[in-house]
This record gives sequence, structure tokens and C-alpha cells, in this order.
Amino acid sequence: MPDNACGRLRLGRWLARLARRCVRRRYFNRTVAMREDPAAREGLRDMIDWWGDARNLVMVEIGSYSGESAEIFLASGKVAKLYCVDPWRMDYDPNDVAAFTDMERIERIFDDRFAGETRMFKVKGTIDDMAARLETHPEKVDVVYVDGCHTYEAVRHDLTVALSMIRPRLFICGHDYSDEWEGAKRAVEEVVGAPDAIFRDTSWGKRLA
Ligand SMILES: C[S@@+](CC[C@H](N)C(=O)[O-])C[C@H]1O[C@@H](n2cnc3c(N)ncnc32)[C@H](O)[C@@H]1O
Repeated sequence: MPDNACGRLRLGRWLARLARRCVRRRYFNRTVAMREDPAAREGLRDMIDWWGDARNLVMVEIGSYSGESAEIFLASGKVAKLYCVDPWRMDYDPNDVAAFTDMERIERIFDDRFAGETRMFKVKGTIDDMAARLETHPEKVDVVYVDGCHTYEAVRHDLTVALSMIRPRLFICGHDYSDEWEGAKRAVEEVVGAPDAIFRDTSWGKRLA
């Protein structure tokens, strides 16, 4: 590679590292409010309404962060058991500011929020850990909500594994079906097809039954 191209590459990498360090410094001590905007809460409630009169659901949420969406799922009265799957590890996605927050602190906020909540089961890991758990302890799964890492590859993987774990096949849903998260949107279209419904908070749903 010519010297000047090499130099430009090194400069590019250095600038990317510097940008990551600045974002981390800015967000490390913050908690990103995922559902502060009323539309972000109402959109999720609309999605739950869209499930109709389904009750006693066993649900898996991929990506729980501080537990705001999980709280809404449980408050709906439709979810009898909620698995919250999250590695609570930083730096999972350069495009998501939540990935630059102090995940040990975020996990503590999550734990405090659900202290004494017997319907919530925390799985510290990825969807692969959840799938392994279901293999050793099989049970029905009615709904999976995918809101973890938003890269194309990650969403594709999560949706593919999610589809294999939903029995007796009610709903697959997720967040960030929007042009802002082009990779996530493309992965949804390729793995599950066009959603049946898209909500105000960019949640989406597909009926499988
Ligand atoms: C956008 S936040 C989730 C927000 C939450 N669902 C809400 O609406 O309140 C994304 C979360 O996904 C988690 N995450 C990142 N990679 C993941 C993976 N491979 N599997 C599961 N969760 C992941 C992150 O730790 C982070 O907490």
C-alpha cells in the first residue's frame, strides 16, 4: 500500500478510536432513557394490544437494558413469565449510545427495578444461552421481542434463533424497524418478511400462528 494511503488509514483508525473515547466519556455515567418519550411507551402498549386477548404468555425479551420495556410487558397483565436476556456488556454496537454507558450500573438498575418480581427471569447472556436453556428445560414460548444489538448480522442471528424457539408459534416482534436502523430493518424483512404491524415506537410484529 502506498505510504500516503497507509497514513490515511492509520489516521482514520485513530480518529475512530478518539470518537469512541469521546462518546464513552459523555455517556458512561448516564442512563439512556429508552421509553421517556410517551410515544415510545404508547407504541409498545399498542403492540401488546395487537396481541389481542392472548393471556398467560411466556415471553422472551432479547435486550432489556435498564428494564423499561420489560416493565411495560409485565404491567400489561398478559405476560405470565418474562425472560429478560441481556449480556449487560459495553461496546456491543458503535451506533447505539446505550453501548457506551456503564453496563454494571445499568444491570444494578435493572436488578433493583425487578427486586421481588417473581414473573421475571433474568438470563445474563445472549439468545444462544436462552436457546441452550430451553433445550435442557423445554417449555412453550409464545412471544419473542428482539431489541438487542442492532447490526444487520446480530438482528439476523437473533431472529433466526428466535423463530426456532417460539412454540406454539404465536408472535415474533422487535424494535427499531426504521430507516435509522437500516440493518435491523433489512434483517427483519429477510428473516421473517414484512411485518404485519408497525407501531409508533418503531416496534413491529408478525403473527406466526
Ligand atoms: C436498546 S437496549 C434495549 C432497550 C429495552 N428493550 C427497552 O426498550 O427498554 C439494547 C440492549 O441490548 C443488549 N444487547 C446487546 N447485545 C446483545 C445480545 N447479543 N443479546 C442480547 N442483548 C444484547 C444491550 O446490553 C442493551 O442492554
